Amino acid sequence: MNHLIAPSILSADFANLQRDVEMINASEADWFHVDVMDGVFVPNISFGFPVIEAVKKYAKKPLDVHLMMVNPEHYIERFAAAGANGITVHYEACTHLHRTVQQIHAAGCKAGVALNPHTPVSLLIDILTDLDLVLIMSVNPGFGGQKFIANTLHKVKELRAMAQAVNPNLVIEVDGGVSVDNTASLVAAGVNVLVAGSAVFAAESPSDMIAALKNIDPGMVI
Ligand code: DX5
Ligand code: ZN
Repeated sequence: MNHLIAPSILSADFANLQRDVEMINASEADWFHVDVMDGVFVPNISFGFPVIEAVKKYAKKPLDVHLMMVNPEHYIERFAAAGANGITVHYEACTHLHRTVQQIHAAGCKAGVALNPHTPVSLLIDILTDLDLVLIMSVNPGFGGQKFIANTLHKVKELRAMAQAVNPNLVIEVDGGVSVDNTASLVAAGVNVLVAGSAVFAAESPSDMIAALKNIDPGMVI
């Protein structure tokens, strides 16, 4: 599968949200990445249901909802109703992760689990067959515009090898500090979906930057 690009609307202009959603619709982007932050699991607050519903109203591509919050199991059905196509919860925030993954599937969504930079991929071994997606954080969650953590590449390779035996269709997503400088290495390591916030929205032409990320050839990695 060719790699997918998921621009993060966290870096969009919220006063011109419809314009930015239409830009993503018209671009080579594949998904909308939607970051929900609760001010408890992460030291920042982003947005909730009304903003997701507003994005959904105009979005012509799937909504990939990343929940950086405690007790996400209290709100899964609400996020599904707001328009999520995929819901990703944090390993570190779920005591009964298997139950929460089942709940996401029962709500009709693809289920993902996100790992903070310090959380080893090996902890997923007993849930890997139940997952559609694993999101490896390549920055500490909470803010856009941070520096990519290089150790992410080792984690991606280890996870791809682990998944080969038990869930070869597992989608691996990387989130944080993604740019044209690290996309080829990430895809070569086994990443399927690249989230990009500031790289896209701080670019002179966001849609050209999306095209640049989408068309990077992983064979070019040295
Ligand atoms: C960070 C969020 C990311 C963020 C990425 O906690 O999960 O999705 O928007 O932004 P950049 O691409 O600027 O690092
Ligand atoms: Zn995210």
